[in-house]
Amino acid sequence: MKNTTTTDLLEKQFQDRIDRGESIEPKDWMPEKYRKTHIRQISQHAHSEIVGMLPEGNWITRAPTLRRKTALLAKVQDEAGHGLYLYSATETLGVSRDELFEQLHSGKAKYSSIFNYPTLSWADMGAIGWLVDGAAIINQVPLTRTSYGPYARAMVRVCKEESFHQRQGYEIMLTLCNGTEVQKQMAQNALDRWWWPSLAMFGPPDAESTHTEQSMKWKIKRKTNDELRQQFVDITKPQADILGLTIPDPDLKWNEERGHYDFGEIDWEEFWQVVKGHGPCNKQRLAARNKAWDEGAWVRDAALAYAEKQEAKRAEETAPLQKAG
Ligand SMILES: [Fe+2]
Ligand SMILES: [Fe+2]
Repeated sequence: MKNTTTTDLLEKQFQDRIDRGESIEPKDWMPEKYRKTHIRQISQHAHSEIVGMLPEGNWITRAPTLRRKTALLAKVQDEAGHGLYLYSATETLGVSRDELFEQLHSGKAKYSSIFNYPTLSWADMGAIGWLVDGAAIINQVPLTRTSYGPYARAMVRVCKEESFHQRQGYEIMLTLCNGTEVQKQMAQNALDRWWWPSLAMFGPPDAESTHTEQSMKWKIKRKTNDELRQQFVDITKPQADILGLTIPDPDLKWNEERGHYDFGEIDWEEFWQVVKGHGPCNKQRLAARNKAWDEGAWVRDAALAYAEKQEAKRAEETAPLQKAG
């Protein structure tokens, strides 16, 4: 009985801290569920950044100009950096990186299902930057004020880089749309394929979202899936108009009364199929990550051997000093 009371008190104090807007740091007391939820969410985010390099990595060697290649290369490298920040943030919660990688490579861990779609043309580099990174920004800006300190701080830098990603993508679209008829068609086709998966990136509707309520209370989430999705549609529709492209949704129209765009129903059946591993590229993505992991074994071994050698050398150097002291 006594233990329950202590836990209750700690939980109350913890919630009060969050309500006051204080940030929770790695060594602070936290409910086990808070820790577990964060390990799940931050590692899923990290995996998404890492797997997210694959669809675009596919086009680096085929970028149409040196300038485009440089920008795409920088963007894909940024995503690697985001993944590493986020793995570090996850580690502060007491889980090892090896364990996280194992979860990804075995297929146990989830990552954003959008990266299970293929990149069929150069225009997809534009559509991904514009829509996928655009959706990521809307998801992540509220996370810069999330309650867990290491996650919030990682998001500040990540969001700055995401806005570069969004711009380089939109600029690709703009160039294609001002080009030949075939180029504009290519851009339209990319929008047609990426629009719906981008909307699904915000997750299931609020009514069916299992984590929303608790996540709002802990300020892991500050806006609901549907609110964020609406914000994305409202921002993106005028951008499509500037490009002269048509969003593939006959129900998309301005609602004067609500002050927002109305839009059509997302195919959630397709979404869940992809989440469950039956998307067009799930197998390919996991195989690519496993291959990279296996082929990188010698680099990890070499780095470890070098670190051990350095440490032995340091120990040898300081040993006589310690004796003398
Ligand atoms: Fe990223
Ligand atoms: Fe990005």
